[in-house]
Amino acid sequence: MRNDTMTRDRQPEIEDIGSNPAPRETIGELVERRLSRRAAMRGFFGAAATAVLADQLLVSGGQALAAQAGPSSLSFKEVAHQMTARDAVPEGYEIQTVIRWGDAVLPDAPAFDPLRQTAEAQAAQFGYNNDYVDFFPLPRGSSNASHGLLAVNHEYVDTQLMFPDMGDEDSARQRSSREQARVEMAAHGMSVVEIRRENGRWAPVKAGRLNRRITADTPMRVSGPAAGHERMRTSADPTGRLVLGTLNNCAGGNTPWGTVLTAEENFNQYFGGAAAKTGAQAAAYKRYGIVEKSSYSWTKYEDRFNLDKEPNEPNRFGWIVEFDPYDPESRPVKRTALGRFKHEGCTHAVSADGRVAFYSGDDERFDYVYKFVTARPWNPNDPAANRDLLDDGTLFVARFHEDGRVEWLPLVHGQGPLTAENGFASQADVLIETRRAADLLKATPMDRPEDVQPNPVNGRVYVMLTNNTRRGPEQADASNPRAANRHGHVIEIIPPGAGTGAVDHASAEGRWEIFLMAGRPGVDAGAQYHQATSSEGWLSCPDNCAFDAKGRIWISTDGAPGTSKVADGLYAADTDGEGRALTRLFYQAPTGAEVCGPCFTPDDETIFLAIQHPGDDKGSSFANPSTRWPDFQEGMPPRPAVIAIVRRGGGKIGA
Ligand code: FEO
Ligand code: CA
Ligand code: CA
Ligand code: CA
Repeated sequence: MRNDTMTRDRQPEIEDIGSNPAPRETIGELVERRLSRRAAMRGFFGAAATAVLADQLLVSGGQALAAQAGPSSLSFKEVAHQMTARDAVPEGYEIQTVIRWGDAVLPDAPAFDPLRQTAEAQAAQFGYNNDYVDFFPLPRGSSNASHGLLAVNHEYVDTQLMFPDMGDEDSARQRSSREQARVEMAAHGMSVVEIRRENGRWAPVKAGRLNRRITADTPMRVSGPAAGHERMRTSADPTGRLVLGTLNNCAGGNTPWGTVLTAEENFNQYFGGAAAKTGAQAAAYKRYGIVEKSSYSWTKYEDRFNLDKEPNEPNRFGWIVEFDPYDPESRPVKRTALGRFKHEGCTHAVSADGRVAFYSGDDERFDYVYKFVTARPWNPNDPAANRDLLDDGTLFVARFHEDGRVEWLPLVHGQGPLTAENGFASQADVLIETRRAADLLKATPMDRPEDVQPNPVNGRVYVMLTNNTRRGPEQADASNPRAANRHGHVIEIIPPGAGTGAVDHASAEGRWEIFLMAGRPGVDAGAQYHQATSSEGWLSCPDNCAFDAKGRIWISTDGAPGTSKVADGLYAADTDGEGRALTRLFYQAPTGAEVCGPCFTPDDETIFLAIQHPGDDKGSSFANPSTRWPDFQEGMPPRPAVIAIVRRGGGKIGA
């Protein structure tokens, strides 16, 4: 999701509504005091405290450091910060375009013609605004690193860049015609594409047998405690168990048993109607940012998006959806036990006892970090035993204490305030209104949680907090220490047993630390990294992350500040040892784009990136875009695409 705090808000109704009505008042300590917390400072360079030194680093040392790894284990030569029509990788690396918006996915897909796009064509072609990327080796269960299925989310559309003659305004999607709206619906959802690496080059396998498109119309089953509930029923589906489509799929994840988890994020923007203000569920709509005026035109053409006609339809979005990428006929399932909010992603770690924890952020200013823990261990020997494992378990929300403890609060009907007196008649009510339940439990309001992802090497869990410009000084707390947090930060959660062979991801307790505070050292107050971070290595607005086999973190960004002429990118850092939190710039995106879905092949020799909304700059349009990435062909608009980055001649990424 486009996230730009300085120059524009492409989707103000999404990014500006901090819809948590009463963020908990926190202990009003000063930013500097928080940043001086014991271990949070160890090995860091506190720019706010020593601005003079920061200038020396950036002016006299920065350029020299940019070429060197310093104490980092990462040996690539950093690229330079830039803001241009093209993207960049370090010397010795190569960018390959794997698949673009409009490329064929299904065998009957026609050739892409952006001037004459149809819904039918789009439903057989690769969708728009790719976010989550995952690689599932072929055959199933293997660790093949040169042949597999790419599973990709299509989060939303940029109508002004998709169609000619829509102008260059953010509001173009509210003016789509009926047929354009049908194209937009077909451009949402997911793609599964068989790909292969031959002679060093990645490419789709023509008409791959397992290829699949999932769109805003694909039938899905609802399971778990909210399935069939009265508030899940509509006139088209009186059972409350069958939904059409998945919407605004941002990041995602997978399971130990090899299924995809796709996360429904800003689902609120597709709905509209007077009921947002006056309907029986108005308070619940408000907590999820559902307003009278939809960001899309779809409310005009399909009753299900009109709150006045189908007040329960939005309750059927905001879930985690599971499906088997190896079976194109399998019906996706909305797993309600994992809660309903603006799920950024959903990543897992197997606990020492075999139960599986799934971590998920709720990407909104002042919203929360969650985990779901299965009731039973997963069974590596019996796929059938895992089929509905996600229907039974406990959903927790995080409270980050000032003293470095993290407490996981269970969202269980009948416990604490989650009772009928507070409007929760059942666990279904708790899940449909997960945010309100978490409010009552006094979870810690965070600075927009995006990916929350376990590091398989050190057992810690990394929380990307993208930014929160609305946090006032009196609302700063230990885990969100910066007021008007424009650049975001990264927190580490340390479960019991982290660093040993027996990590307890199911525990209701743990500890936490700050890993880095983003922003430009010496310029942005509170920026904190390893002291050897170069003038190119600082980042802004962390969004997605991935870990390589050495446990190093690769962070992609969304919302790099336009005023600094820095595009979004991919940054890598050690998480342990001398180079801890020494971030280094590996990839710089074309203008207007965010970088999503970092995903390694099992051999770490390829990293896939989803380059989302290239050319999404102010004044950029189909006719006159700010970039024509990746084709650079006259008349061809910019195309969201998945790229593969490899080393020339082979070898592990980052080395
Ligand atoms: Fe779709 Fe939270 O970014
Ligand atoms: Ca984002
Ligand atoms: Ca995101
Ligand atoms: Ca991730």
